[in-house]
This record gives sequence, structure tokens and C-alpha cells, in this order.
Amino acid sequence: MAETTVKPWGETTIVGKPIPRVDGYERVSGAAVYPVDVILPNMLYGAILRCPHPHATVKKIAVGKAREMPGVRAVLTDADPEARIGWYAGSGPPGPGGRQMLSRLFDPHCRYEGEEVAAVAAESPQQAWDAVRAIQVEYETQPFVTGMEEALKPGAPPVQEGGNLVGAPRETKRGDVAKGFAEADVVLEETYRSSCEIHAPMEVHGSVAQWDGDRLTVWDTNQGPFGIQSDLATALKMPLSKVRVISKYMGGGFGSKQEAGKYTVIAALLAQKTARPVKLFLTREETFLCVGNRPAHIMKLKAGVKKDGTLTAFQLTGLGEVGAYPSDTSVGYQIGDLYQCPNVHIVETQAYIHAGRNRAFRAPSFPQGNWALEQMMDALAEKIGMDPVELRLKNIPAVCQMQQNKPYTSTGLRECLTEGARAFGWKEARSRPKGDGPWVRGVGVASSIWMYQNAGNSTAIVKLFADGSANLNIGAADLGTGTNTVMAMVVAEELGVPLDRIQIENADTGTTQYTDVSGGSKTVLADSPAVRLAALEVKARLLEMAAEQLKVPLSDLVFKDGAILAQGGAQKLAITELRRLRGQMLVGVGRRGPDPTDKVVRPFSTDFAEVEVNTRTGEMRVLRMLAAHDSGRVMNLLTYRNQVFGGVVMGVGFAMTERRIMDSSTGKMVNANFHDYKIPTAKDAPGEMTCLPIDPHDTECNINGVKGIGEPATIAVGAAIANAFYHATGIRVTAAPITAAQVLTLLAQRKTRG
Ligand code: MOS
Repeated sequence: MAETTVKPWGETTIVGKPIPRVDGYERVSGAAVYPVDVILPNMLYGAILRCPHPHATVKKIAVGKAREMPGVRAVLTDADPEARIGWYAGSGPPGPGGRQMLSRLFDPHCRYEGEEVAAVAAESPQQAWDAVRAIQVEYETQPFVTGMEEALKPGAPPVQEGGNLVGAPRETKRGDVAKGFAEADVVLEETYRSSCEIHAPMEVHGSVAQWDGDRLTVWDTNQGPFGIQSDLATALKMPLSKVRVISKYMGGGFGSKQEAGKYTVIAALLAQKTARPVKLFLTREETFLCVGNRPAHIMKLKAGVKKDGTLTAFQLTGLGEVGAYPSDTSVGYQIGDLYQCPNVHIVETQAYIHAGRNRAFRAPSFPQGNWALEQMMDALAEKIGMDPVELRLKNIPAVCQMQQNKPYTSTGLRECLTEGARAFGWKEARSRPKGDGPWVRGVGVASSIWMYQNAGNSTAIVKLFADGSANLNIGAADLGTGTNTVMAMVVAEELGVPLDRIQIENADTGTTQYTDVSGGSKTVLADSPAVRLAALEVKARLLEMAAEQLKVPLSDLVFKDGAILAQGGAQKLAITELRRLRGQMLVGVGRRGPDPTDKVVRPFSTDFAEVEVNTRTGEMRVLRMLAAHDSGRVMNLLTYRNQVFGGVVMGVGFAMTERRIMDSSTGKMVNANFHDYKIPTAKDAPGEMTCLPIDPHDTECNINGVKGIGEPATIAVGAAIANAFYHATGIRVTAAPITAAQVLTLLAQRKTRG
């Protein structure tokens, strides 16, 4: 079925409805076997010895004692030739992209607390951990640096050869900012900071590896089995066809499970060495050190605005803290694209420190950039005496200024602002008395834009059985977001097959079709067009069969509710009545077409927050949030809302509670556990959350009109809360998170200043 002949959906009967997850029962009852639940006959357990120092060289490893421990079947170190695997520690093993190798699987040069030094496989997890403790390592500790500003000072201990600057500064420039600032009536400058946040998906990272001759099968918790397959094949020098990765269920990743981990390769090597299946899952404490994070940022932003609200210039100097290995953290995109602004100058640098590395984290870099930009917009609005919603409306972008001024396929930002403000009761809330204390109230607003990279290739297969039930075959990992449900709904929409009669095969490189990683908020827009095309191919075959059986021309037939109608409904043929379908199965194959090249696909959002702050204790409560999102068509209102609410709560974590704390005297993370690292609980979630979808009926982004919601859901939440905090207290908190301790300090400073 050619994509070009497919018309956008008009009214839909299934797509868009709030339908519970097709696998909801399995997931909540415990019947679903996640990778962490996999138990194979004869299975061993792996554990990893990690460097306890922020910076050290391994001088000697003695494994003799560990090898003699009860139950131990293998010990693996850098001395084993098969473990000498080059590693680009920023982003998994070297792949087709030609990633640079900066390290090894067990590199004797350890650049952060938690780097892999050795591994063990034993009959039980306890025996494996006992053996890990029995490995004797002689380290030569070295000077370290745990903060990005210190790292760039002369004489700071270098993390990588060549110093602590990660490559050359990145620069984006348009217009003339000096001219822009000269034309402005108000120019403001502020330095904003954000803290390092740690990925904390429900299922910890890990793999189960099993060899069958020269064939490797890995049950791995990840966001895209095909990427893991490719990473493993490269690391182990195997053909892709011999590596099977299965990720049917997975318990969350948020960006930290897009590539193979060292643990994946280590599990495979231990399994090979012992000729037994090996299960290697990290402990929660390990994941705090080594599976990734949203890096801290320092963002110096200068902005100019005219009295009428016209933005004249933005200038950003950004510094990101990438950790011990390189990966991109630039935050400037929104500053160049969310609002119409002729003069923009962005310079971003990144610094190495001796700590775990940055990794994609739900809208990588965007909440940080938004924290700066959207608080700045709030401050500009106040200075010129304009409502912050009005200031944003005044500067809606007409075209994508960051991509050759191409038009967007759709822009719902205006509606996010106006309809969101109406639904939130913005005007009334903004003018309501704030209270006489100690609890004071305020409301704030922030908007966002999100960019996905290329949505990639995607192939889907739909098979229709003779009884009218169907099989859907897709490669995508369902991160818990409801991907499988949405895809099944597309089949149900086109073929009228009830959801409970659709069997789904997904996320298995051995049996399902190639698709790109589930990430970048692009899973539904990458995969659902392929699924729809596959279903349409099946539908076309069914209509041909019906035309032959009824002896009527194809043009007289319509497909409705899983049956074929002829002569305006005078004749009706159920799928099961098709004689030629008996004794066979129809197979439809759908392939997604390319992204539009002449236009740019971008989701937009506006978040509104109401907070209550105790000016005596520094506590803050988020009373309510309204999130208005232009993410194109809503495919399933229930899972869409779930995404938005999850994103809001994650944004609360960014704004109020989450922060990696490094001890600069020991170089260790001091809060590497769920007690001291605070992810929001149900009690921290906003008292009331409202999701307001804005559907601009985009017919150009792709055949299904979807633009993506996963990451936009969290981007502007933090800044909206900070702006509400300012409205309530008159205090601008430039550093995230807004903890009670920080608020008390700021309140005390205000008092002393009078
Ligand atoms: Mo995402 S941070 O693209 O999984």
C-alpha cells in the first residue's frame, strides 16, 4: 500500500478513545515476564565489581580467592582477552555511526565512582556478591574534580586527555544581538542553574544472556531491541543474524536504555565462559552511579524586549556537566525556536567531571533550557507590565527559525496558550489575593517546543486469520507508555477486529520487524503509520476477495465495522464468510514513509501551575497543574493523559526535589539511594492535574497526524512551577531544584536586605 494514496483519518471509531492498555492485566497482576523476571533452567547470576574511587588506576587485581569461593563459576577482568572490548563510554560500544573509543569494558583507568573493574558469575546472587567482595584490587588513586566550574579552572585534574572541555564550543548565530539589545526597551540578564537528575525507572538495568552454539539470545530491558542487537554484534564481532534480543516487556527507561550497557556485554561473556545462562541485573544503588543522568547546567541568558512585547534578542552562554565521557547536552534549541526573535546568539560548552555520564533523559536538555528561557520570559513580561501569556502570544513563531525558516506542519502554540489559560482560569487566578501568610499562593505559566530527530525506518506486519482474528507484528519496545495498545487500536480501526482478538508480537529481533528505538517521543509517529499501511493492505485483499465472491466491481464495495458492504449496504459479507480466506492467512506489510523534508514537525505545549508556599518553613506544594499540548492527533486519550501526568510529576522532581549530590572531598555521590535522592511520590504530585489536548489536525506530519507527547509532557513543568513560585513570593529562584532549604535561605536574604 503506497503511503501517498492514504488519506488522513476523518472521524474515527477506535483511535482517540480512552481505551485501557491491552496488556494492563498482565502488567499489574505480575503475569507479565519482564527481563528482570526471567528465570532460565541452569541459570547463573552475575555481579560487577565497581571502582569505589572517583579517579584511580587499577594496578593489580587478584582474583584467586574469589575463584575459590563457593558457587563461583567464572571471574572476568581486563586480563581476559575476550573482555578487551573497546568502549565508547558516552554511548555504548562503537557502532555504525563510527563512535570514538575512549575506554574498554574493564578499563584500568577508572574515571568515576562506579566504573566496571571485574565481574563474577555464580550459582546464586549472594555467592556472586560475596565473590565480588573477595576480589582484591590495588588502586592508585588520583586527583579528581566533581564540579563543572572547578573542572575548567587551570590546573584542574583532567578527566580525559586534552583537558576538561568537551570539544569546541558550539555556536548558533542569527542576526545581530548587539543591534537587538540596542533596539530593546528592556534588557535583562540572569544566570540559571539546574541540577543533575538520575534516571530511576521502575525496572533496574540488566540482561539475561544465553548461548545456543554460536547463537546468542538476550532478554534485555531496553527501549529498542534492534539497537541493542547492533551494539552487541559490534562488541562481540558477531553477525546481526546470530544475536537475538527480546524486550517484550520493559519497566521504563526515560532515555537510559537506548543502548547496550556494559552489563549486557558482560552477561554475554560470562554466559559464554560458563556455557550457562547468566542473569546480570544491577542493584538500585549501582544505577545511581552508572546508567546515566540529566546533566547539570549553568545558563547565562540575556534577553531584550520592546515595550510592546516584541522580542529583539537572546544571548545564551551555556555550560553543561557531561560526566566522565562525552555526550551532547546543548540546551539552546528552544531559545532559538520557541519564539519569533530575529537576533540570537548561543554559545555552549561542556565540561568533563569525574562522575557518571550524561545520557538521554526524557527530552534531553530541554527542561534545562526551558527553565532559563521561560523564567526569563516571565521576568521580561513583568518588566514591561504585560501578562506573561500575552507576551508569549505576541511572539508565536511563524516558521522554524532553527531550520532554514521552513514552515511547521502545524503550530498549536497559540491554542495551547489561549485555551489553556481559559481552562485554567488564568486571569482570575492571576489577580486573586495571594494570602497573608504563612501560606501564600501564586500561578505561573511556561511553554515549550520539542524536536524529534529523524523518526527512522519502521516496518509492521498485520496477519489476518480465517476467523477474522489478527496478529500484529511490530519491533517496538513498549516502555509502559501503551505503544502496543495504540498500535492494536490502529488495526482495530482499519479492520474492525476487536482488540481482544488481536495478538501482538513485539520487540524481538528474532521474530519481529525492524524499527528504530522507542525514544524521542516518536514511537507512535514512527510505527503507527507502518501499522496502518499493513492493515490497509490486508483490507485491500479482503475487498478483492469480496468483489470476486459477490461478482460486483471493487468500486461498489465499502469496508465497515469488520464487514464488507455492497450496493450501499444491501449486501453484507462478514470476513468469516469470505470463501477464499478459508485455509489461508492474509499478510499485510506496511513500511513507514520518510519524514516531510520541506516542512518541520514540532509538538508545542503550555503548562499552567498554581502553587502554595509557606514563607515560614520554605515548603512548597503544587496545588494544580494544567498541561495544554499540541501533539497532533491523540491516539488514545487514556494513555495520552497518563503520559502527560507522568511528565508533570517528573517535572515536579526536576523543579523541586531531584539532585545528585557529589561530595567534593571524597568525589563520591552521597545520595545514591531512594531515601536520599528524592523522586516525587504520590504526596508530592500536584493536587489536581488537567490534560488539555490541542489537536491542530495536522495532515502533513505523517499519515496519522501524530506529533508525539512523551517528552513534551515534562519540558515546561519546572519553569511553570518556578514562575508560580515567583508570583506567590516575589522571589526568583534561578537554581533548580527549589528545595525548602534554598527557599529559607532566599527568604532570609530578603529579610536582611529589608
Ligand atoms: Mo528518550 S530521552 O528519547 O528515551
